[in-house]
Amino acid sequence: MKYRVSVIGTGFVGLVTAVCFADRNIKTICSTKNEKNAELINKGIPPFFENRLEDLLKKAIETGNLVCTTNREEAVLNSEISLIIVGTPFNHIDKTINLDYMEQAAKDIGTVLKEKNGYHLTAVRSTVVPGTSRNIVGRNLAEKSGKKLGEEIGLVMQPEFLAEGRSIEDTFRPDRIIIGEFDERSGDVLQKLYEDFYGNHIGEDCPILRMNIESAELVKYGNNCFLATKISFINELAKIAELVPGVDIDLVARSIGLDYRINPRFLGAGVGWGGSCFPKDVNAIIAFAGDKGLESQLLQSVVDVNDRAALHALELTKELIGDLKEKTIALLGLAFKPGTDDMRYAPSRRIAIEAINQGAKIQGYDPRTKESAKIAFHQDGTEITLKDSVEEVLKNADCAIVCTEWDEFKTLKPKTFIQHMNNPCVVDGRRIYDTTEYSKELNYKVVGYTTE
Ligand code: UDX
Repeated sequence: MKYRVSVIGTGFVGLVTAVCFADRNIKTICSTKNEKNAELINKGIPPFFENRLEDLLKKAIETGNLVCTTNREEAVLNSEISLIIVGTPFNHIDKTINLDYMEQAAKDIGTVLKEKNGYHLTAVRSTVVPGTSRNIVGRNLAEKSGKKLGEEIGLVMQPEFLAEGRSIEDTFRPDRIIIGEFDERSGDVLQKLYEDFYGNHIGEDCPILRMNIESAELVKYGNNCFLATKISFINELAKIAELVPGVDIDLVARSIGLDYRINPRFLGAGVGWGGSCFPKDVNAIIAFAGDKGLESQLLQSVVDVNDRAALHALELTKELIGDLKEKTIALLGLAFKPGTDDMRYAPSRRIAIEAINQGAKIQGYDPRTKESAKIAFHQDGTEITLKDSVEEVLKNADCAIVCTEWDEFKTLKPKTFIQHMNNPCVVDGRRIYDTTEYSKELNYKVVGYTTE
């Protein structure tokens, strides 16, 4: 029998997951408390931008494989497996994650399961610190349903590894499937779902690894912490490279990455990592360990190095134009990475705050973030003038800093900067330009390279 799936939460991971299941002919019902979003989803319109999502959502709604409801009870009742994919927001004060939505989802599912007949599996897909799935989700499911975990109701934790911009691809072609199981039956049910979903993809290219729940929870943190560490590592090495004229960090990174034990990905030096996951996850696991008396020395340095990576762009700017007071800085790109309008923990925000502190005026342009950028800079209390094109943002600027490597910026030639800027100075914070060409034609600084 093919299982029917309910997805609790229609944020970026929830909706993408639901749409991908529906695309593989799995009856899927997703639930959100946001009425406006539910209405949009049922019309086939994604409430946020993600590559390829619109086409797949339209198809999922047209085939009837996906429906969205604002009624969680209805979603759980019409499924055999419920995936909890709710937000676990970051608490800025103590750097822990907020598990309120998770707890509420478990309570709501448990309450429905009290009346529902037959076996029901609940899978935690949100990123949660070790112990959460068992102690918060499992406990509430059992308490509210009055049923025993491992008998009529099952529990698993299956971390997701979706990156924004490529999350549909990541869902259809994962590297591995991690199943943290409360008991064997729970793991078997989830494994069966994925065997149906992936068919031949499962095997050597995508093994299924089964383990206890807490190990699976830690896999997700380990994964993101390792990737963040790789980037902070290369950013530290980039600063060492800058001490030796003629050494280019790109070439060094590529060479290091060719070692089969390392691999070349996530060794791109620049203004550092941001986004909805790395900052939240690295800080949350540091707080989790700290709470238990363990100081995460390495991970704390990974965070510190990343904070400095953003500010380093301003050090390079000052090497070009001196004091920032009364100078106009143009930020090319505002999103935390290309392909998204997400401004969460975007390095551009730290750069803007610090530049303004030092007396600069900031203008910014990003091909996709106009609305989200307005909100983000407003939250920060940062005064920035948002522009509508490269030409506009460069006008009257004393220095341009590349914060996001959009394709639109990669094709720019030095003459565009020379034509439009007050004083053609460029800091390449994402390593997108040819260093030889740019150094020859402009006042140019780049992360990880100093001219001889
Ligand atoms: C990440 C993980 O990749 C994904 O597996 C997890 O589920 C969620 O977090 P995401 O935040 O969407 O995904 O973006 P990602 O592409 O990983 O980039 C994160 C940040 O690292 C971006 O700010 C990016 O600019 C930066 N980065 C990435 C670098 O600075 N250098 C690199 O070489 C790669």
